[in-house]
Amino acid sequence: MSEQTQNTASHTPYEWIGGEPRVQALVDRFYDLMDLEPGYAELRAAHGSTLADARQKLFWFLCGWLGGPDYYQERFGHPRLRMRHMPFSIGILERDQWVACMDQAMGETGVPEDLRVRLKASFMNTADWMRNR
Ligand code: HEM
Repeated sequence: MSEQTQNTASHTPYEWIGGEPRVQALVDRFYDLMDLEPGYAELRAAHGSTLADARQKLFWFLCGWLGGPDYYQERFGHPRLRMRHMPFSIGILERDQWVACMDQAMGETGVPEDLRVRLKASFMNTADWMRNR
């Protein structure tokens, strides 16, 4: 086993990505891109006028989802993500834009390539499960 493989195998994705400041940078870039990029317009339109709430909550959620502190659960209990997304219209287009936006944000914030590939697949599973039309 290479040294790098050993390192990555013994850490949570949260440690691997670089902990809280890197999760924050990723979430900030994700919502900035959603606001800026014409290619994510339908995804942006599924959100409210401000992304501030979503930004805060996704940061809390991802810290726990990646194996770090469970900030989201401490505040809101079980995430029940599919149920919480029911008020929003989510189809294939929104799913694909969410994952593309997150993948671009991972690339631009320097998420290690191996980790980026794995997380993209996990995000796709989660986003697909959120579809409600
Ligand atoms: C598939 C396309 C998706 C769309 C269109 C979408 C859209 C939204 C919207 C509109 C909100 C409400 C934001 C607010 O409170 O102002 C939200 C909340 C949230 N989303 Fe998504 N989302 C998607 C996928 C995902 C995925 C894949 C994850 C996790 C990996 C996720 C995690 C969250 C979390 C944690 C919240 C906060 C829930 C709460 O406590 O209210 N979303 N999302």
